[in-house]
Amino acid sequence: MADPFPELEDEPSPERRAEGLKTLRLALWGAVALVVGIGLVAMFAPDRSPPSAGAAAYSDSIGGPFSLTAPDGSRVTDQTLKGTPFAIFFGFTRCPDVCPTTLSRMAQLRKQLGPDGDKFRIVFVSVDPGYDTPQDIGRYVELFGTPILGLTGTDKEVDAAVKAYRAFYQKVPTKGGDYTIDHTASVYLMDASGRLQSIIAYDETNPSALAKLKRLVG
Ligand code: NI
Repeated sequence: MADPFPELEDEPSPERRAEGLKTLRLALWGAVALVVGIGLVAMFAPDRSPPSAGAAAYSDSIGGPFSLTAPDGSRVTDQTLKGTPFAIFFGFTRCPDVCPTTLSRMAQLRKQLGPDGDKFRIVFVSVDPGYDTPQDIGRYVELFGTPILGLTGTDKEVDAAVKAYRAFYQKVPTKGGDYTIDHTASVYLMDASGRLQSIIAYDETNPSALAKLKRLVG
């Protein structure tokens, strides 16, 4: 095998030359080890790409494919919502506080936006499909005096939507055999292409929430 290392220009003493080559070889082997190491890390690193080709359009980890039913029986999906920004929220019609508070606030903030308030949708997804029919949800969202798209689906469809948004809900038994539902209280602001732009937290101030909505429709 040919010696890959170049001759030195000057003619140092044989000992110094041998020492210099030894140092050079060590450095080169070090570089080889580093490259091999990086290759191995790359080979065994977990695959972080989205699980399906359909999800490839979503660079963020929040938001993704879903398919649910509207009050009029039509199907609404992440694809049919594309083209207009939307604020999406998960809850249930019997919710005593978080849902009515949040939907009232969204209605109020939309009014504050004036004409720009028409530039985004408010979407409410019921995570209680065993109780809330699409028609029930339609009647419920009408109480807030602003257009709200109420959705739900089968347990499986609701779970898929909740998972796509990394949201959470859990039925909690109450006295008398009834139940309530703990659920994510944040509102997800999605841009016209269905990507997450920001989140309005439940305890966020109205000016801060309004600023986020202005950005959403801007
Ligand atoms: Ni609620």
